[in-house]
Amino acid sequence: MASSRFLFLLLLNYVFVFGSVSYPSSSARVPSSSASKVSLALYYETLCPYSANFIVKYLPKVYDEGLISIVDLELFPYGNAKLQDKDNIVCQHGPFECLLNTVEACAIDVWPDLNTHFAFIYCVENLVAKHKYPEWESCFEKLKLDPNPVSECYNNGRGKELELYYANITGSLQPPHTYVPWVVVDNQPLYEDFENFITYVCKAYKGNPEPDACKSLVHQVISEEKANPTGEVCYAEETTKTLASY
Ligand SMILES: *[C@@H]1O[C@H](CO)[C@@H](O)[C@H](O)[C@H]1NC(C)=O
Repeated sequence: MASSRFLFLLLLNYVFVFGSVSYPSSSARVPSSSASKVSLALYYETLCPYSANFIVKYLPKVYDEGLISIVDLELFPYGNAKLQDKDNIVCQHGPFECLLNTVEACAIDVWPDLNTHFAFIYCVENLVAKHKYPEWESCFEKLKLDPNPVSECYNNGRGKELELYYANITGSLQPPHTYVPWVVVDNQPLYEDFENFITYVCKAYKGNPEPDACKSLVHQVISEEKANPTGEVCYAEETTKTLASY
């Protein structure tokens, strides 16, 4: 299988339990930053098909019509994973999800530029959506990105540190998340209406001028009543059900 070097470390991670953990400081991604921008946060897990669908079909709309200029988008790849024994992480969709959560956390860390890490995460989640995620390493080549910093991050404990940091951030959400994808705009969760995130971003934006994406919202509101009609999400407490169905 393609994931050789990462799978090797996946196994190592099961053998070694890390001792004390310090949270990342340099590029610590604490929500809320630039004053005038609207904070858009996505809490997700890499192998939840509904997270993947949201990232591939909806989230790229932040790049439409100037919207990105008013948005501070942050991704939190941890989701419904659980901490066991204070620093052992168990993922909802199994060890491969822990691997990809960590890889995506590393991607955010080594490429802090949104355009770069989002392109990578989009590529991986697009493979998840197509049930081809074991080929995820092809995204490095496809995007002409160096796999080495991500591999190092995964291997040297930094990735684990990042995941424990995301565990803490996700676990501290108020109100707590009950499923993924969990979309939060300026600290307000959108619940089932998450696919309409643009409406909420535009409502929350206080600055001027309004991007074109917000001006054209009048037309969108009517057609967006059907957002997520089937309630397709991965619930935090239904590990076995989700495992059985995916
Ligand atoms: C997050 O970390 C802080 C500081 O170490 C700690 O006080 C808090 O209990 C943690 N929260 C969760 C949900 O793990």
